[in-house]
Parts: sequence; structure tokens; C-alpha cells
Amino acid sequence: MHLSQQFFKVNILNKHKILDKLPNNRVELHLFENIDSTNEECKRINQKKDFHVVIAEKQTMGKGRLGKSWSSPSSGNVYMSIYSKELTNNTPLSLIVGLICVSTINSMIKKNSIGLKWPNDMLFAKKKIGGILVEKEIKGKTINNIVGIGINLNHPKKEDWWGDLQKFKMHLKRDELINKIIHSYIQFCDNGISNWQEQWHAHCVHLNHEIKIKQNNKIINEGIFLGINDDGSLNLKMDNNKKTKYEYGEISIEGIY
Ligand code: BTN
Repeated sequence: MHLSQQFFKVNILNKHKILDKLPNNRVELHLFENIDSTNEECKRINQKKDFHVVIAEKQTMGKGRLGKSWSSPSSGNVYMSIYSKELTNNTPLSLIVGLICVSTINSMIKKNSIGLKWPNDMLFAKKKIGGILVEKEIKGKTINNIVGIGINLNHPKKEDWWGDLQKFKMHLKRDELINKIIHSYIQFCDNGISNWQEQWHAHCVHLNHEIKIKQNNKIINEGIFLGINDDGSLNLKMDNNKKTKYEYGEISIEGIY
């Protein structure tokens, strides 16, 4: 382990900086030192405002996509979930939130270094630095969205394919990063987002590249990634030149990191 990782000093999350210029009649912040999962905490909230934001320094049972766990030590990363009502538009929320996060980070580091891997992995230098887990909660006639965001700013026990953003000293600006993401998320919920597919393609690290499609731990197809449709599904050109599409439910892409 590198020394700077071992003795990394975490700046504790600051409520005032996180809420800076956010409408306090619409946003409720729930900050935790330690929690099972910020997504799970959303399910225990008594909803009073448009947006409840749950953030923790550490998660003991962090959840990832496809039933995986999300390693969540208290080393200054972002573990947050935004709880709000279902949107009336039909945009693929998890892809858009991935786009919001990547655009926010890139604007803060003043480089376009962070890219997207379908459907919503955040990548830096071919390593995964973040991901999104969107869950739907159905309560009678009401549907709520739980948007879980994990971004690694400093991860002490990285797997081979994990990365973090400590190179950019983003740990010093964690509150600002969270604040900007919440801001953009509210903006998107209120006003939608134009050209989102174009923007998503511009950030995608494997557009027109050879990819493998994985389902239940098995490679089920391969070909060229041609981009996404307005429902977030991907288009694949196979060896026989035929095209097919995959929805993002149970599918992932193999071989990018
Ligand atoms: C993925 O597998 O790529 C999605 C990871 C999502 C992790 C975040 S951390 C905050 C929120 N709470 C959770 O338990 N998971 C999400």
C-alpha cells in the first residue's frame, strides 16, 4: 500500500457546503457516519420534501449492480443516494445520472479524463472509479426513484480493475462535488436534459469498439458497440453485419477494464 493512501486524511463531510445554494424547502439532507447502505436508508425515510439526499462516510453493506456488493470504507469516498418521485419523462435515469456525474467531475478537474462505460460505470485510465445503482420503490400508487451514486476518491484496497481520483486531489473538494451533482440532478428532474445521447456518446470510452456482452457471468454475444438508443439500450453490430440491441437490466460489457 502506498503511504499517501495509508495515511490519507479525510475531511469530514460538511453539511453547509453540501447544501450550498440548494433550495432548502425542497432538499433534505441525511448525513451518516456509518450506515448499511444509503439506498436502503432511502426506503426507511418518511418523505416530506422533493429530494431526500442520504450520504454516509462508510457503508457496511454497500450494494452494487447485478447483486454485487460495493466496497465502502471510510476513506473519503462518495456514497450517496437521492430519493425523489418518479419522473414523468421516459429517459433512462441511470445513464443520465452517470452522465451528470462524469460531466461534473470533468468540469472540476478541468480535463475530459473521466469516461463512461455502458450502462453507467465511471472510468478513469481504464479503471472503474464509480457506479450508479437505481432502484424503484412502489408505495401504493406512488413510485419513487432511489438513485445511488458511488465515486471512489481514495480507495485503500483496490482490486486490479478499480481506480480512484486521488491523483486529482478531489478528496479536498468532496462536498463541492456532491453539491454540484445534487444541483444537476434537480435541474434534470425539473427541466429534463437536451442532447443527452450525444453527450453520452461523447463520453463513452468504447463507442465503435469491439465489446463482449455478458449475462449471468457468461459471454452471450460480441461485436461493435454502435451507441445507445433513447431508452438507454445498446446497439451491437455482430460479425455477420446484423444488428441487435440489448436493454440494460441484466447485461454488462466485458473487457473494457
Ligand atoms: C455499480 O455496481 O456500479 C453500482 C454501485 C453503486 C454504489 C452506490 S454507493 C451509494 C449507494 N448505496 C449503495 O448501497 N449503493 C450505491
